[in-house]
Amino acid sequence: MAYTSSKQAAKLKQSRQGMWSSRWLFVLAAAGSAVGLGNIWKFPYIAGENGGGAFVVVYLGCVLLVGIPIMIAEVMLGRAGRGSPVHALRNLIESAKASSFWRVIGWLGIGAGFLILSYYSVIAGWALFYIWQMGSGVLVAVTPDQAGKLFSNFLSDPFQLVFWHTLFMALVVWIVSKGVVKGLENAVRICMPLLFLLLVVLLVYSAQSGGFEQAFNFMFSFNWSEMHLDGFLVALGQAFFTLSLAMGAIMAYGAYVSEETPIISTITTVAIIDTSVAIASGLAIFPIVFANGLDPSSGPGLMFVTLPLAFGQMPGGMVFGALFFLLVSFAAITSAISLLEPLLAYLVEEYNAKRKRVAVSMGVLCWTVGLGSVLSFNVWAEFYIVGDKTFFDFVDYVTQNIMLPLGGVLIALFAAFVVPKEVVAEQLGLRGGFVSIIWNLLIKLIAPLGVLAVFCYTIYTTLYLPMTA
Ligand code: PHE
Repeated sequence: MAYTSSKQAAKLKQSRQGMWSSRWLFVLAAAGSAVGLGNIWKFPYIAGENGGGAFVVVYLGCVLLVGIPIMIAEVMLGRAGRGSPVHALRNLIESAKASSFWRVIGWLGIGAGFLILSYYSVIAGWALFYIWQMGSGVLVAVTPDQAGKLFSNFLSDPFQLVFWHTLFMALVVWIVSKGVVKGLENAVRICMPLLFLLLVVLLVYSAQSGGFEQAFNFMFSFNWSEMHLDGFLVALGQAFFTLSLAMGAIMAYGAYVSEETPIISTITTVAIIDTSVAIASGLAIFPIVFANGLDPSSGPGLMFVTLPLAFGQMPGGMVFGALFFLLVSFAAITSAISLLEPLLAYLVEEYNAKRKRVAVSMGVLCWTVGLGSVLSFNVWAEFYIVGDKTFFDFVDYVTQNIMLPLGGVLIALFAAFVVPKEVVAEQLGLRGGFVSIIWNLLIKLIAPLGVLAVFCYTIYTTLYLPMTA
């Protein structure tokens, strides 16, 4: 069955929003989306909270068996449907004559992306604040205690948090309003290589800090007794989050990929880059944690307390420290623009709206929702939406543990059973044989069942355990 008439197919060769200028720019852009706070800030602290080694192994398994296949599926859907996630889905549904129920994938993605951006911007604002703090020299030779105090004082001041949240969101809106080629490409072309370089500098420093061996053991020696069922859930959620899956981001970027780009190898490269940055961040942060007697499971503040300590003691640490937080902010920006892109592309395509106007209005809306997360760290710290979850915890939990896995299962099932076989084969360059078998096994069975199992467990713990507690 041909999935489109030839006229339609010709139309679908290009996206209305523009196209990536080369395969490598797509790699950079997708890596720019994937590499972000999730790798540098979140991965080390949740690995710390979940016992280290065993968690890392489960996480790697999730990336390999679930993350990569779903990421490939997303790019394929974006490219075959050539449009914002909602439109891409609509095009594919029409050509496959499938139920319009599947459109929910696009909406779930756009909704999750919007909600995540609201708090992502708040945390990224912390990184902006630390550029300033490092550069001004107040952190030179601080003690662990002082570094901890500075961070907690900062969190307790809602005005400061709002200021940096506003600045970050304004930057994102500014870049996104310039469009794919000018805004997105230029941002990733400069930021990504610099980020890698600085990570290496930090690794070299950490390797000599005295805590490296302990850190290495913490991250790579696995002790199953420390891995709880909850850890599986967190690991899977993290795999989705870090690869930017099920939020429409990768699908939206997929719409700007040329027909010649080989999806499987390109996405595998992106996943390798993303995973390496996460592991490198852990190996940069944990030695400092152990060398200074800090607690590896100290939660969201981990990076913001440990790294200023390290830089504060390094010769030239002011400059390196400021530069490092600058790059964390860049990594966060290249991720944040991909969170806003799907919604923007949808509004521009659907209403023929001006990109700039839509970017500003959606930015303001998202900023407003983000205020709830700002307040969760101070004024509303004791205000729980459910159980012991503040507004920030709640949004983080619902998006990461419910919306993303649900979106992920639907994407896998749609790609596996609704998109016509010929379209999949053409998009992925499958010609039978080993790769096809592996692909079918992963996308039809392992990925959806894996996510579904974890998802059911989440629902069970969310609905059932609080009642018995
Ligand atoms: N992958 C990004 C990170 O690890 C976060 C993100 C999620 C970005 C979803 C875009 C879409 O920080």
